Amino acid sequence: MLGTTSASKKLAQMTYGYWQSQCLYVVTNLGIPNLLQSGAMTVETIAKETSTKVETLYVLLRALAHLGVFVEKPGRVFAATELSEHLITNAEPSLGHFLMHIIEPSMWDAWRELGNSLKTGEVAFERAQGKNFYEFFMTENPDSRNLFNNAMSFLTNQAIDSLFEVYDFGQFDTVMDVGGNQGALIAHIVKKFGCKGILFDLPHEIETAPAFLARQGIDQDAVQVIGGNALEEIPKGADAIIMKYFLSVFSVEDAIKVLTRCKEALPKQGKVVLLQTLVPPRGAPVEYPDGTIPALAAVQMMVTNPGGYWRTEQEYKELFEKSGFQLEKVIYTGTSLTVMEFKCHEVIQE
Ligand SMILES: C[S@@+](CC[C@H](N)C(=O)[O-])C[C@H]1O[C@@H](n2cnc3c(N)ncnc32)[C@H](O)[C@@H]1O
Repeated sequence: MLGTTSASKKLAQMTYGYWQSQCLYVVTNLGIPNLLQSGAMTVETIAKETSTKVETLYVLLRALAHLGVFVEKPGRVFAATELSEHLITNAEPSLGHFLMHIIEPSMWDAWRELGNSLKTGEVAFERAQGKNFYEFFMTENPDSRNLFNNAMSFLTNQAIDSLFEVYDFGQFDTVMDVGGNQGALIAHIVKKFGCKGILFDLPHEIETAPAFLARQGIDQDAVQVIGGNALEEIPKGADAIIMKYFLSVFSVEDAIKVLTRCKEALPKQGKVVLLQTLVPPRGAPVEYPDGTIPALAAVQMMVTNPGGYWRTEQEYKELFEKSGFQLEKVIYTGTSLTVMEFKCHEVIQE
C-alpha cells in the first residue's frame, strides 16, 4: 500500500503498529483468548459469548488470524495459538494484562497529547486525564489499577529466575522493596532466600498488598507492609533497599530526594540494589532479546510520569554518586533487567 522498498515497508509496518495494538487490546479486553482455551469456536459463538456483532467481529478476528494471533479454520471457526495463549487473563498475571495496561484508553489518550506536551512542557498523561498517573490509577479507577498491578506482577514473574541466578538476596537479613507495588518481587525473595521483607509503596497501592501476599503463601510476619511517600520518608529496618522500575518514575531532582531518604533509612554500609532496564549507550544494540527497546520505553515513561525516564548505566551511576552512594557492581541478567548494587557513601549533595 505504501511502497515496496525495504525502507518504505519498514515505515509502513511502523505506521500500522497502532492498528495491531488496538486489535489486540479489543480481543483481550473481550476475553476471547480466555474463551478459546476450551477449544475452537465459530465466530457466531464468540460473538454471542462477547455480546458483539458477528460480521464486524469476523473482520477483527480474521485480521488477527492473518497476524498469527488466532488460526482461522473452515466455517469461520477460530482457534487459539501460542500467541493468544499469552493473552489469557483469567489465570496468572500475563502478557495480556501488560498489553491491556499499556493500551488502555487512558494511555491511548495520553499518547495523543505527546506532541502538545513537547511544546508546553506538561506531562502528556496529565494533559489528557487532568490528574497525575498514580492518582488516576490508584484512587478512582479500580479496573485500571488492577490491570496495572497485574502488569507489574507479570514483568516481575517473567524476570525472576534469571535474576535469582545472578544475584544472592540471601546476603541480607531484611530487604525492603521501595515502590514494590503489590509485593510480587518481595514475595519471591522472601520465599527463595528466607530473609525478612518490608514492602513500601504509596498508601493507596498497599491496600491490596496483604491479600496479594497471602495468596502467594507469605506469612503475615514475613513481610511488613508499610504505606508512605518515598519522597518524604522511607522507614528504617532493612539492611538493603531494592528498587525495581521505581527510580525511573522520578525526575533527577526527585530521584536524588528518594535516594537521600534511602540513605537516611539504611544503616552505615547499607546497600541499594537497583533493578532497571538500562538505555544502551550510543553504538550498542538498541533492542534486548525479549524485544524491549529501552529508548522507546523511555518515551512511554515520559508520557506518563513527571520528569521520569529510563536512563543509561552512566546516568544512574552519577545520580547515585550525587546522593551519597558508590557503585559496587553491575550484573547483567541476560534479560532486559540489569542489577546495579550501590553502597552508602559519605558525601551528600542534595
Ligand atoms: C512502575 S511501578 C514499579 C513497581 C514494582 N517495583 C515493579 O517493578 O513491579 C512504580 C511503583 O512506584 C510506586 N510509587 C510511585 N510514586 C511513589 C512514591 N512517591 N512513594 C512510594 N511509592 C511510589 C507506585 O505505586 C508503583 O507501585
